[in-house]
Amino acid sequence: MKLTEGKSRQVFATESEDEVRVFHKDDETAYNGIKHVIIPGKGIIINKISAILYETLERNGIATHYIRTIDDRQQLCRKVDPIRLEFIVRNYAAGDMTERLDVKTGTKLSIPVVECCYKSDELDDPIINRSYAIALGMASREELDLIEEELGHINLVLTSLFHEVGIKLVDFKVEFGRLADGTLLVCDELSPDSCRLWDEQTDDSMDRDRFRYDLGNVGEMYEEVLRRLSNFINE
Ligand code: C5P
Repeated sequence: MKLTEGKSRQVFATESEDEVRVFHKDDETAYNGIKHVIIPGKGIIINKISAILYETLERNGIATHYIRTIDDRQQLCRKVDPIRLEFIVRNYAAGDMTERLDVKTGTKLSIPVVECCYKSDELDDPIINRSYAIALGMASREELDLIEEELGHINLVLTSLFHEVGIKLVDFKVEFGRLADGTLLVCDELSPDSCRLWDEQTDDSMDRDRFRYDLGNVGEMYEEVLRRLSNFINE
């Protein structure tokens, strides 16, 4: 039974109440789904990249929803109660930040910037601050403290992994969900669709910006990210 369908993933129930099956589709979208294309085989690449990223986080003590890869397109994941917030961590200025503020794309930020957004397609995921999130019951103060600490750790682990393969982690988005006992897990998508990845030598985009800004070779660049990560992991 299908539980939910997002822009690039479907989530199915399993025999276990505590686990779900996540299926990666070939859809590539931008601007809240306004721009949309099918890239044949993209779901297979995303499934593999996402598994490498989740396994790396787990190896480094970060609790995530990922359990294991089932096949080419599917992962078995822990079922969580999703928190309706998206957290964006920025190491360099790009995208929305450069449109809102007078800061040039590619500027190195002196500390990582963390943004908290209310997850709502209708409202275009507006940025909110901690007091909104707490006042509106989206997360507790304690949960936000834990998440902030975890975001710093995730940023260090992913920045270092990508650096090993010649890629700059410009920014990324992550989400969190709760288990029945309140434990927080990183969940949802983790891939070049939810990160900005620039080649360290050329500053070429290797992420969804290739699609957003019509830079071409989206699938090829995703494959290149996978090739570099796989080579590094299998070294
Ligand atoms: O658009 P913006 O500059 O805020 O995006 C920051 C980072 O978060 C980018 O890597 C983008 O791909 C990711 N993001 C996402 N899903 C959203 C919003 C942003 O994956 N709904």
